[in-house]
Amino acid sequence: MTNPISTQRDGEVLVVISNNPPVNALGQAVRAGLKEAIEAGLADDSVEAIVIRCDGRTFFAGADITEFGKPPVGPSLPEVLDAMEAGDKPVVAAIHGTALGGGCEVALACHYRVAVPSAKMGLPEVKLGLIPGAGGTQRLPRVIGAEAALPMVAIGNPIPARKAQAIGLVDEIVSEESLAADAIVFARSKIGQPVPRSSEGTANQDGVKNPDIFDQFRAKNGRKMRGFDAPNAAIEAVKLAGEMPFAEGVKKEREMFLKLVTGTQSAAMRHYFFAERAANKIDDIPADTPLIPIKKVGVIGAGTMGGGITMNFLSAGIPVTILEMQQDALDRGTGVMRKNYENTAKRGRMTMEQVDQAMGLLTPTLSYDDLADCDLVIEAVYENMDVKKEVFAKLDSVVKQGAILASNTSYLNVDEIALATKRPGYVLGLHFFSPANVMKLLEIVRGEKTRDDVLATCMKLAKTIGKIAAVSGVCPGFIGNRMLSPRQQQANALIMEGANYWDVDDVLLDFGFPMGPFQMADLAGIDIGWHRDPTKVTTVREALCAAGRFGQKNGKGFYDYDAARNRTPSDDVKAIIADFAAKEGTAQREISKDEIRERLLYPMVNEGAKILEEKMAQRASDIDVVWINGYGWPLYTGGPMFWADTIGLDTIVAGLEKYGLPVCDYLRGKAERGEKFNSQ
Ligand code: 3HC
Repeated sequence: MTNPISTQRDGEVLVVISNNPPVNALGQAVRAGLKEAIEAGLADDSVEAIVIRCDGRTFFAGADITEFGKPPVGPSLPEVLDAMEAGDKPVVAAIHGTALGGGCEVALACHYRVAVPSAKMGLPEVKLGLIPGAGGTQRLPRVIGAEAALPMVAIGNPIPARKAQAIGLVDEIVSEESLAADAIVFARSKIGQPVPRSSEGTANQDGVKNPDIFDQFRAKNGRKMRGFDAPNAAIEAVKLAGEMPFAEGVKKEREMFLKLVTGTQSAAMRHYFFAERAANKIDDIPADTPLIPIKKVGVIGAGTMGGGITMNFLSAGIPVTILEMQQDALDRGTGVMRKNYENTAKRGRMTMEQVDQAMGLLTPTLSYDDLADCDLVIEAVYENMDVKKEVFAKLDSVVKQGAILASNTSYLNVDEIALATKRPGYVLGLHFFSPANVMKLLEIVRGEKTRDDVLATCMKLAKTIGKIAAVSGVCPGFIGNRMLSPRQQQANALIMEGANYWDVDDVLLDFGFPMGPFQMADLAGIDIGWHRDPTKVTTVREALCAAGRFGQKNGKGFYDYDAARNRTPSDDVKAIIADFAAKEGTAQREISKDEIRERLLYPMVNEGAKILEEKMAQRASDIDVVWINGYGWPLYTGGPMFWADTIGLDTIVAGLEKYGLPVCDYLRGKAERGEKFNSQ
C-alpha cells in the first residue's frame, strides 16, 4: 500500500501532506505516516517549523470509523498527537473542508490553526455514540473554555471557520486559493517563539468558576439527549478538563471512550452512519447514470403537504409553480409558506432578504397549463386512486415530454397511477413526511416501469433539498407505513385485552420513540375522518368522538389535557374501552410492559423481514433509515432491523410464537441459521 503521507520542504518549513481519499480518515497508515514524518521533522535540525495539510476535498474528517470494533493497530492517535504537541518547533494545521473528530483533535494538538473561510471544525463523535478519544475533550475546553466546548462535544455540530476564529479555535483565516502558501508564511512567522500548547491552556477555568454551566446545559438540551449515553459522558469529560491535570483527564477520557466504543449504542449509531450512505445507492443502477436536469418543479396542492414539499425546493433555490383549484386555497397556502419562512427568520435562522428570495421563486397558479415546462411535477392531492389517476392523466397531457411525474401518495399503488399516463417510465412515488419542510425522510417509490435515470435523478435531488432518501418497491404503505400497520393493530388489540393505553404509549416512550400511538392520535385529532354521527359507534375512536373527545384540540381525547398540554390518563376512556371489549367478548387481563413491548415491536420486525423477502427494500439497513428518519425510531438502537440483530432473531421468532403472531419464512430461516439482517 502506498504511504498516504508525503512531505515537502519549503526552506526551513517541513510540509506534511496527507492524501487518503475520500475524506482523509485517520486510518492506521495515516497515523503511522504522520508519526514518522513529525518525528523526522522534529529530529532534523534544518527544520524549524512544520505545516500539516491534506490533499483532496477535506482536512482529516476523523478516525477511520471502519476500524472501530476491530483489534487496534498502533500507533494510536493520542500517541501521535502527544508527540506532535510536545515538540518545541511550531506545528501549524492548515485546514480546508471539514476538520472533524480525530481531525479536529489533530488540529488541536498543533500549536496553531489556520483555515480557509469555508472550512468547518467540530467534534461529531457524539453522533456516533462516542466522545472524542484523542484528547479532544481535554484540549478543546483549555483553548475555548468549557461553556463554548460543551455544545461542540455534547451536541457535535461543526462550526464555521469564522466562528472558530471568534472563539479562539482558529488563529488566522487565510484565502481559499492560497491555503498551502499562507500556512507556510504563518508557520515561518512563528519560528523562534515559544509554542502555545492546547494541553496547557487555561480557558477551561470558566467551568470551575461557574460550575452551574454543566447543569444548565443539561437542562437546556435534555430533550435532544434523551436516551443517549454519549452526551452525558461528553459533558462529564468537559467538566473533568477543568478539575484535573491534562494527563489524568486524558486517561479518564480514554476510559469513557473505550466503554462507549464497545457498547451497543455506538455500534448502532455507526451502523446508521453507513446505512444512511448505503441507502443513497441503488444496487442495479450505475453511479454514472446521466441525470435529468431539474430546473423547475411543479407542485399540485397547496395544503399542508403541498406547501411543505414546495418549501424544500424554494429553500434550495429551485423555482416552483404551485397549483390549486380555487384562488382562496392558493392564497391560503402561499400565505402559510411565507409565515413559516418569517417564523424561521424571527428565530434568526434566516434573514428577511432570504425569505423574500425564497418566496420570489414561487409562482402560484390555477391553471394546469402553467406546469407545461416543469422538469418534475409532484402531486400532493387527496389520497384516492380515482382522483390521482385523473390528475396524472391531465399532467401527462400538459407537461412536456421527458419530465418526471411524481405522486406523494403514502400507500397507493404507484404502478396503477403510472398507467394513467403514456409515460409510465417517468412516473414514481416521492413520499414526503409531514411536516414536509422539516422531516428528513423521503421514501422514493420505484415503480415497475420507472426508468433508471428518473430514479437516479430523484435520489440526487433528495440530497439537493437536504433529504435522506430510501428506495421502496410498490407495496401497500411502502416500507414505513407498511411496518406501522402491524404495530397499530397490536396497540389496538392490546388495549382491548386490558392493557392500559397509557402503558402502551409509555412503553414506546421508554423505548425511545418521541410519542406513542394514542398520544399521536390525540395530537392529530381523533375526529379525522369521523362520520360525525354520535349515534353510530362501532370503534373506540367513534366512541371517543361521540363523547366529545376529539384530542388535544379540545383538551380531551384518549387523555385529559391541562392548559400546558400535559396529559393525564382518563378513567372514562378506560371504561369506554372496557365496555367495548365486553361487547366484543374480549376478556380483559393485566398485561405486562414486556408483553406490550414485544407485541408492538416484534411484528414490525416480521413485516420488515417480509419486505426484504419480497425485495421491496434493497437492504435491511434501508428499513432502519426509513424508521429512524420518518417515524422517530430511536437512533441509538440502530433502527428496527439492527435492533432485532442485537437482541437476536431467535428471540424475535420465539416471542412472536409465544403470542401466536405470524412469523414469515424469511425471518424464521435467518433465525434458524443463526444469521442477522445486517451482515456487519
Ligand atoms: N471513516 C471512514 N469512512 C468515512 C469517514 C470516516 N471517518 N467519513 C466518511 N467516510 C466515508 C463514507 O462512508 C463515504 O463512503 P462511501 O462513498 O463508500 O459511501 C465516503 O467516506 C464519503 O463520505 P460522505 O458521503 O459522507 O461525504 P460528504 O462529502 O457528504 O461528507 C463528511 C463528508 C462531512 C466528512 C462526512 O463523511 C462525515 O461527517 N464523516 C464522519 C465524520 C466523523 O464523524 N468524524 C469523527 C469520527 S470518530 C473519531 O474521530 C474518534 C476520535 O475522537 C478518536
